[in-house]
This record gives sequence, C-alpha cells and structure tokens, in this order.
Amino acid sequence: MPDFYAVIGNPIHHSKSPVIHKQFAQETQQDMQYEAILAPLDGFEVAVRAFQQRGGKGMNVTLPFKLEAYAISTCLTERANAAQAVNTLKFNGSHDILGDNTDGAGLVRDIEMNQQVVIVGKSILLMGAGGAARGAILPLLELKPRILAIANRTKEKAQVLQRQFSSHGNILSGHYQDFSGESFDIVINATSASLHDELPSLPEGIFSKESLAYDMMYGKELTPFLRFAQRQGASQLVDGIGMLVEQAAESFFLWRGIRPETKKVIEILKNNRH
Ligand code: ATR
Repeated sequence: MPDFYAVIGNPIHHSKSPVIHKQFAQETQQDMQYEAILAPLDGFEVAVRAFQQRGGKGMNVTLPFKLEAYAISTCLTERANAAQAVNTLKFNGSHDILGDNTDGAGLVRDIEMNQQVVIVGKSILLMGAGGAARGAILPLLELKPRILAIANRTKEKAQVLQRQFSSHGNILSGHYQDFSGESFDIVINATSASLHDELPSLPEGIFSKESLAYDMMYGKELTPFLRFAQRQGASQLVDGIGMLVEQAAESFFLWRGIRPETKKVIEILKNNRH
C-alpha cells in the first residue's frame, strides 16, 4: 500500500502541488500517492480528520485554510509558530498533528540556491504584513541581512511585525512612501495585490540596477510588481514559481526524510504557465 498525501484548499483545481509531488515521488522512488481535496469553506477540519482516518500521512494546506491548520495542529515547528500559519501537516497516528510552515524556507532557498543571491549583509524591503509576509520574516532574518524593512499599506500591521521579530534582527517598518529614495538589494512582494492585478503604491527609487525584485505570486505574464521593477531598472525579476516548488520540496523532506531535486520541476512549471 502506498502512503497517502494530499493538498487541501478552496478552490483547489488550480493547484500545482499534485504535479510537483508526483514528480518528486517518482524521482526519489517513494511509494506514495498525492491527491487534491476540495474542502467546503466551513468544513476544513472535518475533511482533514476524514483524510487522517483513511490513513493519510500528511497534507499541504493552501488558501484559505492556513490559519485553521495552525489552530488544529497539536504540535508546531518553531517557524510555524512564528508565522502563525501552517502549510504542511504531518500525521502521527490518528490524533497527533504536527503543523509546519515551509513557505519562508522555500522563499530563501529559491533566492539563495536558484537565484544565487546571498542574503547575508543585504538590505531587504518586504512588502506586505499579512500571512505571507509573516512567514518569510524569520527565515530571512536567520540569514542575517543588514536590514529588513517591512512596508505595508496599513502601517500599524508592519509595526506589529517589527515589534514581534525585533529580537531576531535589524527591522524597520513603515508605509511604502516612508522608504522613498532608499534603494534595496532585494525587494519582495508578499502582498496579495497581484491577485486583483493591482500594485501597492510604491515610491520610485527603491530599486537599483543590481536589485533582485521577487514576487511571491506568479502568472502567465510578468506580474504588475515585476513590470514596475523592470521599469525602475531592476536587473533580476523573479516570480513565485521557484518558491512554490521549494516549499513543496521542504514539505516532502519533512514527510519522507529525502530532499528531492527541484530544478527539473521548476523548468516543467515554467514551461506550462497558466
Ligand atoms: P496573505 O495571507 O496572502 O498575506 P492577507 O493576510 O490578507 O493575505 O494580507 C494581504 C496583504 O496584502 C496585506 O499586507 C495587505 O495590506 P493591508 O494590510 O494594508 O490590507 C496587502 N494588500 C492587498 N491588496 C493590496 C493593494 N491593492 N495595495 C496594497 N496592499 C495590498
């Protein structure tokens, strides 16, 4: 009998996780099956318990259930605790649920390993103060950037994050306009603005020619944020495909104890954008 895994969300039909994990399983010769589960908006926990009862070993959790996954976890990794959100569940028997968050690890792995940009000593502007931004802060600070500036439309939310993580590194917070004229080595879009084809009102001058512009979102075309960065002269434009595959690899590692190769899967997804 293969081991069962699944991604759960609502909607779920667009999820690339089944393709990614099937590739990983094939490549590492793991006997496992991976499916996509659509949970009703008010039925997340019931769906998780049903999968667990069926003998499921673990799940990836996507929108809008990452907070609920955090709430039902009986044990949390440090990074999930810091993110206050869970994207990976590992079941231990029929009661224990380990909650992890591999999004931030996926982000920094993509930046350092795939884009070959080191984080130590760099200045970083992190745009957004929601769940996606929160999950990235600790993994970024662990790699010792010179400064991490958190900018958000609602300044107070950025200030809360600054206070929460200030003991882990050098953090600033403010509105986007507060960073006008300061250029950053790495600018990361962790807002959900691209989902509505929008862009936070960014000041000019935050990119230099050497800057890496990184959007956690991705699409068929360049995202509005990456188009802005391009117009401002940023040389490296990267979308969230690499992060998606790397966070999956990190989940796979948690479940199976084996780190799959990501390069080929990233290429497959890049060539099949939709
Ligand atoms: P997620 O879990 O994806 O981060 P979230 O917690 O709802 O989602 O957070 C969304 C983030 O995108 C927030 O930082 C939000 O800014 P506010 O805190 O000011 O709401 C940001 N965001 C969404 N749409 C935006 C837009 N059109 N312009 C600027 N920021 C936007």
